[in-house]
Amino acid sequence: MAEIAKLELEGKVYEFPVITGSENEKAIDISNLRGETGYITLDPGFKNTGSTQSAITFLDGEKGILSYRGYSIESLAEKASFLEVSYLLVFGELPTKTQLTKFEKDIRSYSLVNEEMKDIIDGFPKTAHPMGILSSLTSALTAFNPKPVDINNETQVYNAVCKTLSKFLVLASWVHRKREGFPLNYYDNSKGYVENFLRMMFAIPTEEYKVNPVVVDALDKLLVLHADHEQNCSTSTVKIVGSSHAGLFASISAGVSALWGPLHGGANQAVIEMLEEIKADGGDVDKFILKAKDKDDPFRLMGFGHRVYKNFDPRATIIKKAADDVLKELGVKDPILDIAKKLEQVALNDEYFKARNLYPNVDFYSGIIYRALGIPTEMFTVMFAIGRLPGWISQWLEMRANKEPIGRPRQVYVGSTKREFVDISKR
Ligand code: CMC
Repeated sequence: MAEIAKLELEGKVYEFPVITGSENEKAIDISNLRGETGYITLDPGFKNTGSTQSAITFLDGEKGILSYRGYSIESLAEKASFLEVSYLLVFGELPTKTQLTKFEKDIRSYSLVNEEMKDIIDGFPKTAHPMGILSSLTSALTAFNPKPVDINNETQVYNAVCKTLSKFLVLASWVHRKREGFPLNYYDNSKGYVENFLRMMFAIPTEEYKVNPVVVDALDKLLVLHADHEQNCSTSTVKIVGSSHAGLFASISAGVSALWGPLHGGANQAVIEMLEEIKADGGDVDKFILKAKDKDDPFRLMGFGHRVYKNFDPRATIIKKAADDVLKELGVKDPILDIAKKLEQVALNDEYFKARNLYPNVDFYSGIIYRALGIPTEMFTVMFAIGRLPGWISQWLEMRANKEPIGRPRQVYVGSTKREFVDISKR
């Protein structure tokens, strides 16, 4: 028998269906609540609110489980490439060899970005933050691709996916080049996706650029780990913008802005800045733990805590090991890795952090790897954005395919009640 939730209001009992997900998570379907009762729910930060039914990513924050389309993040990080995972997220199945080869080829076919985009990049001061530039450039892509994607046309959807994955990567590298004052590089269609990114980022015309396979592998793995995370802040932003039937580039541009914030993707930059600060201050980890616990101090331990994970973040476990491996393979000794490990140990044994289930999240160790790979700190959140792109695309497509209504929350008004207008001469 179908499960029912009962709600008693003003002496009347209302019934609402209970929805059970494929991993047995339960939700009370309140879509008729206001119509039937006149009441709405109030849930700041949507801590208890499911906005959708999705078949893309499963996350169990209590058990520390994350899977894309049923495949565990551990198996994908170990065995699949970023483009394989992108295909899986967007199209629902792992690609065959033929499908993957075609996907890579089709992505390459869009790798030339309109030269006029360079004029837009030139308009930014060198001091502009990469995420701000990336958000603007992504939005600007609409001007060069004004025709909206017909969501019911498979070929158009496929081409839009390939185009977005291709052009976004080029633009992300151009953001860095602009800041460095280096010429903007082009995609090399004889090379792979991640290798191309490194070339576009670091190759200079005066020297041969040798790609280190260890670096390519590490970066590929990091992108896989960031590829999707169900209804997080930036993905929800992408979807809410897209729910007004705004275009894919405009929606993704908004997602980049949402990701930029230090409570979300911007935390990877903030972690390194925090670790540097601790180092510069003499390395006293306990002092910063005390600051993080002090409610009168706005300081938070960056890279700690998560809205959904209340046990551990499985991505953090994989990244911590990857950080050790990469630093060892590249022969890099980074003193802030020691500070990070010490901080983690102290925090994990501290009552404040234990009681609130605060564990290192994906951003805690990722910056240490990016640093070892030669990526500048201000580009870290751009790296997160490149990784999250297939997640944004797949969630946007799913939302449109499911014909979800425009996202438009309600509110409880607590302002002044009706007042008479007072003329300016009498105020
Ligand atoms: N340092 C110190 N205290 C913290 C921290 C932290 N990093 N995170 C949460 N708390 C405390 C918070 O003060 C509150 O304490 P109390 O109950 O006494 O008022 C309690 O823990 C619950 O925190 P919350 O802010 O209500 O939790 P939330 O689910 O709204 O926030 C979060 C989640 C990720 C925004 C938050 O943990 C945070 O600010 N962390 C630091 C930033 C960070 O690392 N962000 C990256 C998230 S993972 C990558 C991504 O997906 O974006």
